[in-house]
Amino acid sequence: MTNKLVVANFKMSMDTSDVNNYLKDIATLDNKNVVICPTSIYLPYFLKKKFEVGLQNVYKEDLGAYTGEISPKQAYSIGVRYVILGHSERRQYFKETNEFVNEKIKACLKNNLKVILCIGETKEERDLLKTKRILKKQIVSCLKDLKSIQNVVIAYEPIWSIGTNITPTNAEIEDAITFIKDVVWELFEAKIKVLYGGSVNENNIKSLNSINNVDGFLVGGASTNYSKFKKIIKEVTE
Ligand code: 13P
Repeated sequence: MTNKLVVANFKMSMDTSDVNNYLKDIATLDNKNVVICPTSIYLPYFLKKKFEVGLQNVYKEDLGAYTGEISPKQAYSIGVRYVILGHSERRQYFKETNEFVNEKIKACLKNNLKVILCIGETKEERDLLKTKRILKKQIVSCLKDLKSIQNVVIAYEPIWSIGTNITPTNAEIEDAITFIKDVVWELFEAKIKVLYGGSVNENNIKSLNSINNVDGFLVGGASTNYSKFKKIIKEVTE
């Protein structure tokens, strides 16, 4: 057993019958290094099992008149232990800024939730050789004024790699992860887990998992098919 994390981000895929089938497939999964983040309405079906459950987003307040939102306090109270924040799809489609993500991170940590903070550059930023500048800005802004980052995990997700079947080279991922860990050390003198996400699948996981400093993976598409996801879990955590 390793201490690496494998996180499934189902996004908005699967309807009720898909979820029921998936639950049958996953019935024997016994691994606390696996975090399943279903679409929030299906989350209760995944609770009280032998793996962890996370949300794909939360709001920054504990309670109140915020139609359609879920609070960190509510999430913790039902048994959620992880929250994905700052995903590029939330930044792109819902206009979430680093500052807003920072407020949500603080709200989660206050409620004892572990945060999986997503950062990553666009294709254009990469082509302009701005990757490290963008990553540093995201880290500094999203983690601003945190007292402790013990419950923060960062997921490096290059935006151009999400859902495209294109991944950076292993050397590029290793370099980005080293950079992220260095920036965090500079700011907090603390070590955190850094995951890689973006087109991780059952075929490339062996190679990706051989990257020296990677502490796990955040998996989108391939996590929604349990026979594929199972291979990823096995490769990374056993
Ligand atoms: P894919 O694995 O489908 O590329 O998605 C990655 C992702 O966005 C996980 O959060």
